[in-house]
Amino acid sequence: MTSTTASHAADLVAALLFILSLAGLSQHRTSRAGVGYGIAGMALALVATIVLAAQSITAGAVALIIIAMALGGALGLWRARQVEMTQMPELIAVLHSFVGLAAVLVGWDSYLEVESHGSGQTRIAADLLGIHHAEVFIGIFIGAVTFTGSIVAFLKLSARIASRPLTLPGKNALNLGALAAFAALTIWFTVSPDLALMVAVTVLALALGWHLVASIGGGDMPVVVSMLNSYSGWAAAAAGFLLDNNLLIVTGALVGSSGAYLSYIMCKAMNRSFISVIAGGFGIESPARGDEEQGEHREIRAREAAELLAQASSVVITPGYGMAVAQAQHPVAELTRRLRERGVEVRFGVHPVAGRLPGHMNVLLAEAKVPYDIVLEMDEINDDFAETSVVLVIGANDTVNPAATDDPSSPIAGMPVLRVWEAEHVVVFKRSMASGYAGVQNPLFFRENSSMLFGDAKQSVDAILQALGDAGPHASGPAAQQTAAAG
Ligand code: TAP
Repeated sequence: MTSTTASHAADLVAALLFILSLAGLSQHRTSRAGVGYGIAGMALALVATIVLAAQSITAGAVALIIIAMALGGALGLWRARQVEMTQMPELIAVLHSFVGLAAVLVGWDSYLEVESHGSGQTRIAADLLGIHHAEVFIGIFIGAVTFTGSIVAFLKLSARIASRPLTLPGKNALNLGALAAFAALTIWFTVSPDLALMVAVTVLALALGWHLVASIGGGDMPVVVSMLNSYSGWAAAAAGFLLDNNLLIVTGALVGSSGAYLSYIMCKAMNRSFISVIAGGFGIESPARGDEEQGEHREIRAREAAELLAQASSVVITPGYGMAVAQAQHPVAELTRRLRERGVEVRFGVHPVAGRLPGHMNVLLAEAKVPYDIVLEMDEINDDFAETSVVLVIGANDTVNPAATDDPSSPIAGMPVLRVWEAEHVVVFKRSMASGYAGVQNPLFFRENSSMLFGDAKQSVDAILQALGDAGPHASGPAAQQTAAAG
């Protein structure tokens, strides 16, 4: 077997491992195996690519590739060990920007290679040169949109810039105009390639990527992250065509299509138009800001909250991003255990975009050993709030905002939310009256049955545990009394 055949066989196995990886990652139970398949596939792909490349490049160039890989690998390992769970989406956004940048550089390199050697001396046949030019242009366009779009997503997710949508006058016309200009430039470049056109498409795509993501509001950022994931896949596939690397094409297509499907599922879950989100908020004109206070709020202390819980028959906990920031999952799990011991029915209601990455809350609750069977999804719990004694909103905000259902002018209008306000009492754990990620004030805080428990969520839950302990270890809730009576 020649090394070329061996390399193609390795590509095939790597592609299969990537498919197994995606399948594994689709379920909590099999996700570890999924990551393992992905690592094995990537290791095989890298070795096969370098072995094949080593036949046509100098030993010095191979050494440079290995040094670059070692540096990149060390940097990646260091960041992966440092990163907090709450910073994961912003890290993913940065990684997407690297894929975009790589596609732009590959496109430029490919153009300059043909220009400097002339078509006769490159691997591209003269009659395929037009197709090659179109590939260069499309690769640079997708890569540059992904690059700046991901940088804006990183800045928004890390709160370095406001998450509010940018609403330039005629923003939809700007986006459509940029797409039309790209189509015209591509035809022009295919017929008569020119450095000025390369610069023009790069600048146009960089500006479009920036504008597309800047125009999307905070509440829609989860969809944007998965959409950029998809774009980065298509950018990698475009680079694969330019580098004549089949595995990069297959891998890019897998990432591109799975990212697009995830974006579609998330749009459905959040009642958003897929087309509107991928087109930078197309069709959504300046929403009301809605971050001003809306009346008087009531405050509650940890001891009073503990008394409320001791008297409750059923409690639902709706965790959000603030629980992750405070790392409150362990005391929350302990509170759950203590209340259940007292005979209180405790369940969790998890919104699909609570936190900052899909499954964020489920991972934290699993880490704190909260039993799976009491962790319910939004659709499973929403009809039960009306029969619930106390809801503890722990660091959640946008995902429990009634404005999404009551106020059609709200930036989050139409997004399904946990209807916590239907419960008898709602206790909101947060540090201030500040708005949530979408920058929208929450009318829940001003409702008759809501009380604010201000402070860091972990400290507040610890204080409740302390107060429950002070009240004695004995069961005192109505459910416990019933149990005792029945016994
Ligand atoms: P958010 O709306 O982000 O609100 C979190 C709340 O936690 C804030 O109002 C904050 O109020 C509070 N908080 C922060 N640190 C705290 C601490 N140490 N102790 C107590 N409270 C603390 O949360 P959510 O309801 O989970 O909604 C998620 C939002 O993020 C949605 O808009 C969603 O679209 C967006 N998003 C989600 C994802 C994914 S995939 N899940 C990705 C990107 C963006 P204070 O500052 O007053 O404490």
